[in-house]
Amino acid sequence: MSPTTTALGPRTIRADDLLLRPLAETDEPAVAEALQDPGILRWAAGRSVTEAPPRDRARAWLAPRLSCWDNGAAVFAVADPVRGTLLGSLSIREINRLPDQAVVTYWVTPAARGRGLAARALQTAARWAFTPVADGGLGLHRVTLDHAVPNVGSCRVATGAGFRLEGTMRDFYVDADGARHDSHLHARLASDTGEEQPASAR
Ligand SMILES: CC(C)(COP(=O)(O)OP(=O)(O)OC[C@H]1O[C@@H](n2cnc3c(N)ncnc32)[C@H](O)[C@@H]1OP(=O)(O)O)[C@@H](O)C(=O)NCCC(=O)NCCS
Repeated sequence: MSPTTTALGPRTIRADDLLLRPLAETDEPAVAEALQDPGILRWAAGRSVTEAPPRDRARAWLAPRLSCWDNGAAVFAVADPVRGTLLGSLSIREINRLPDQAVVTYWVTPAARGRGLAARALQTAARWAFTPVADGGLGLHRVTLDHAVPNVGSCRVATGAGFRLEGTMRDFYVDADGARHDSHLHARLASDTGEEQPASAR
């Protein structure tokens, strides 16, 4: 843990139609299925996962995320609010590496796509991140995310959740095949108002 990151306790956040809950060992089969998806492997899994043999990828992805709360990161399963089954993942990382700031990443399983789930999960996570510490939140001022420019769906998710496009970072992202891509930087501030678009279930 970097000296400036913050240890957290695992948290569960309920919204109307989704649950953000800590990941569990029992999520491994659902993670293994999600990691079959080329989009998740290309844009969201990370090199340590894509470079592992396919049978080891779910463990390689899940293990560090089960203990993340001690290391200044909040990694949630985006889950069905009734059954608790995993529909995706959302991570808030680098919390307070820069004062009052953090970085968010996300993916949604192919079966759960097409109904605005990532944008709603982002909106839910941002509200928690901007809630004062005294009220149970992270007390942040600025949350950023980045996505490779060709990942147009992620750009729609970001802007729909009120994360304003701030610019393009050249050659920022190296994908699973080693190709470099320019990335968009998006950010949402605690003081931003009126930028969320309704991302209701379709
Ligand atoms: C990006 C991702 C999380 C979006 O999942 P989702 O919440 O189910 O998103 P939806 O399918 O509801 O689409 C959200 C928006 O993106 C648009 N979109 C989705 N895929 C798109 C594509 N390939 N091209 C253009 N637009 C696309 C939708 O039309 C929708 O637009 P709207 O808000 O204007 O209606 C999901 O596709 C995913 O997990 N992809 C692989 C991993 C990834 O890219 N993670 C982000 C890394 S930065």
